[in-house]
Amino acid sequence: MERAEAAETAQSAELDRLVIMKSVIYTSGERDPRVPMSRPPDQGKRYLMRDDPRLPRMPAKPTLFDYFRLRFAPANHLLQSARLAQKNGTDEKVVLACLLHDIAISGFIRGDHGYWAAQLVEPYVDEEVSWAIRYHQALRFFPDESVGYAYPQMYVKLFGADYKVDPYIERDAAYARDHKWYMTSRLITVNDLYAFDPSVQVELEEFTDVVGRHFRQPKEGLGFDQSPSAHMWRTINWPTRYL
Ligand SMILES: [Fe+2]
Ligand SMILES: [Fe+2]
Repeated sequence: MERAEAAETAQSAELDRLVIMKSVIYTSGERDPRVPMSRPPDQGKRYLMRDDPRLPRMPAKPTLFDYFRLRFAPANHLLQSARLAQKNGTDEKVVLACLLHDIAISGFIRGDHGYWAAQLVEPYVDEEVSWAIRYHQALRFFPDESVGYAYPQMYVKLFGADYKVDPYIERDAAYARDHKWYMTSRLITVNDLYAFDPSVQVELEEFTDVVGRHFRQPKEGLGFDQSPSAHMWRTINWPTRYL
């Protein structure tokens, strides 16, 4: 208890010295992005350039699981989907794809989440895995009776019975359907649990081996290597830095 209080005091002291500015993308819609952002009165305080004191601090060389534990919303959906894939006897690559397929929703950007997630993991996984994650975004809107995948009832509820996907989703789904890796992506949608069971608790550690075998963790830490998506991981780590 005392320690928690001390941490809180340290945190507010740090906050006192820092001005935190949100990126336009966090506020767009709530405010008009064309209107110049008014800076909070800084009274000579410094602007945040690294760790946000309101967030749990990430280790210097973060791993994928550190992001799951410290930056992602509870990953029940991902864990339960990965476990279902495992139970259904799919290839380990599919299990990994299921574990990662919605990380953009869990910790980054929701819109076009399949594309964002694919880009995040692309440098670290088999091309087939990131490909499958990218195209689950489009394929989930299209049924495939051969594997028992129907259009999700939840989408009718969420978007209305008359909802039509955008032309780019239609295009990408058609492209994916004719691709040699179609079934890998399709299996994400098959094992994607729409209504997860809150009573089932799946631990991240269940997938330590699968991740160890199929996710190439950079030795510098995720976000600090020179991969094309390192900056995206850094932004998840330090989402509020001024520049
Ligand atoms: Fe998804
Ligand atoms: Fe999902």
